[in-house]
Amino acid sequence: MATREVRREAHAKINVFLRVLSARADGYHDLESLVAPISLSDTVTVREAEALRVDVRGAERLTGDVPAGGLNLALVAALAIGDACPGAGGAEITIDKRIPVAGGLGGGSADAAGTLLALNELWGCGLDLATLAELGERIGSDVPAMLASGPALVSGRGELIAPAQMAPFWWVLVHFDFGVRSPDAYRWWDEDGGAPGPDPEPLLEAAAAGDAEALGRHLFNDLERSVFARYPEIARAKDALLAAGALGAVMSGSGSSVVGLARDEADARSLSERFPGALVVTGPPAR
Ligand code: C5P
Repeated sequence: MATREVRREAHAKINVFLRVLSARADGYHDLESLVAPISLSDTVTVREAEALRVDVRGAERLTGDVPAGGLNLALVAALAIGDACPGAGGAEITIDKRIPVAGGLGGGSADAAGTLLALNELWGCGLDLATLAELGERIGSDVPAMLASGPALVSGRGELIAPAQMAPFWWVLVHFDFGVRSPDAYRWWDEDGGAPGPDPEPLLEAAAAGDAEALGRHLFNDLERSVFARYPEIARAKDALLAAGALGAVMSGSGSSVVGLARDEADARSLSERFPGALVVTGPPAR
């Protein structure tokens, strides 16, 4: 009998805006963010197996940075749903990695969310999305947003999710061979006396209306100032995208990746030629 398998595309995300409101007593920060899935994805495949095991495949420059063992978020996710699912067994989890690691693109969280969804199906757990989101929240602040299938306005520490309207846009994604750890970026925001950015309402209107010019003007990320002060090359990438004609540019999450907003596909492709290694993506993915 053929082994059953379930496959899920685990899409990366960008933060179209990221507003840090305040530090909390539990070590997290309250924030607001428009989180949009992008066309770049890892593929998560789960198959019935005796034991639980995770295999990460892909370019060495990507997989070399993926944490092994208990630090791998897909394995953490598998253990979490295993505890909550009476029908759980073993599983071989294969991740075909394309999302740069620790780049502010939510790759690990996407893999965790994809693993939760795929194992829920493989093991016939029948857990609803709210229950999966509760499991996800304990794995990482980004996981609930990655379980949502479309753009989401997130708040709290990232666990409060509301679906958001956003037309598909074309982006040029500039990534680096180093990541920025989120705890560092948030701590620097504290140390540097960070303040919350503007009311995101005009940005949300532009995103919903598909108005790239207006969206470009309103992109912001409150973590940029502190991260740029420590990694000037990230600031330079943003400046270079703007100088090359992007409608706007913004760091995603706690960095290191920066996205530049293009007018359309042709504009994105010509912009990307100025940035070796840059990827052209849609966010949210065009359906
Ligand atoms: O939840 P996650 O494991 O992704 O968070 C990693 C770290 O990033 C947290 O321990 C915290 O230092 C910081 N963080 C934060 N506020 C958030 C999300 C993350 O301070 N809303």
